[in-house]
Amino acid sequence: MKTVRMSIIGFGAVGQGVARVLIDKKEYLEAVGLDFRVVAIADSRTAAIDKNGVDLTAILYRKQTEGIVGPEKVTGLEIIKEIDHELVIETTPTDIVTGGAGLENMLMAFKHGRDVVTSNKGPLAMKYAELMEAADEGDSRFRFEATVGGAMPVLNLAKDALAGNTITNVEGIFNGTCNYILSRMMEEHAPYDQMLAEAQELGFAETDPTYDVEGIDTACKMVILANCIFGMNATHEDVTVTGITKITPEALLLAQNDGYVIKLIGEVNDSMINVGPKLVPVDHPLAVGGSLNVASLQTDLSGPVTVTGRGAGSIETASAILSDMISIYRE
Ligand SMILES: NC(=O)c1ccc[n+]([C@@H]2O[C@H](COP(=O)([O-])OP(=O)(O)OC[C@H]3O[C@@H](n4cnc5c(N)ncnc54)[C@H](OP(=O)(O)O)[C@@H]3O)[C@@H](O)[C@H]2O)c1
Repeated sequence: MKTVRMSIIGFGAVGQGVARVLIDKKEYLEAVGLDFRVVAIADSRTAAIDKNGVDLTAILYRKQTEGIVGPEKVTGLEIIKEIDHELVIETTPTDIVTGGAGLENMLMAFKHGRDVVTSNKGPLAMKYAELMEAADEGDSRFRFEATVGGAMPVLNLAKDALAGNTITNVEGIFNGTCNYILSRMMEEHAPYDQMLAEAQELGFAETDPTYDVEGIDTACKMVILANCIFGMNATHEDVTVTGITKITPEALLLAQNDGYVIKLIGEVNDSMINVGPKLVPVDHPLAVGGSLNVASLQTDLSGPVTVTGRGAGSIETASAILSDMISIYRE
């Protein structure tokens, strides 16, 4: 059995999802020879630390009832710096202005030779090359499947399952909030504002939806694809972006009469990175409804390969993190 000592830095929806899947999948992990031992957890104010492994069930309960993870007044950054462990799960909030705590946490982890698995796209959309270099210098493994498309595999699909293929283009729907709003506008012939309000009520959209509806979230994911799959050194400023706020029910109806839907499509290849509303034939693989995500990879050997799945959610995102963890340590 291989024991991997790990920390979870950021204990919101995704961090808690990771704790839950570690509890639920304990037997499965043991069967594949892996013992992931969480030695520290941090949220924005507190930490729980135990070198023999913290009690995940108790910490989940404390976070839900008291709003904090533990008694210690230690920051995530201090944990990464000072506590002996191999793997950092970085699940703090996305910040695309400075890279936020996530950027500092990842650089600190690499400085100490720790591996990193993250769902935080901010640092990767801002400082991809710097992070790769730091990971290289620390001899650290760095995986981030969860940053693009949540549970839907895209990066590992391109890098592992389609290894040997040259990927010539990637396009798809990478934001569930926009897809939900557009799908509902089409179904109800209702205006954008009304369907945004519905999405907010049902928890599909944030109180401040700017990031999603203006296409910025999709742009960050396209940047990660551009850098990881096409070897670019792009930031979100290199993306041409149009959001969905100006789309009218009339435009959707006109499209529908001609056999099309309108979707917010992100597209990347080695000469451009683009995000904007596009007409998609109703029977096209990219025409998925609700809050689903979809990605179509154009390849030289396999032709088009399309995957669809849930782009967000606590357990769904944790699933992508878990698969990265397993693939690092099973090797
Ligand atoms: N939710 C999803 O479905 C999803 C999907 C894909 C990717 N992501 C990405 O995954 C990351 C986490 O998302 P989330 O939904 O879990 O966010 P969240 O619910 O807002 O949780 C963020 C967590 O980070 C903690 N935190 C903030 N600053 C910190 C710091 N400096 N040090 C340590 N912890 C800190 C917060 O502490 P408090 O609890 O004390 O506030 C909270 O526990 C984000 O980057 C997000 O973009 C999320």
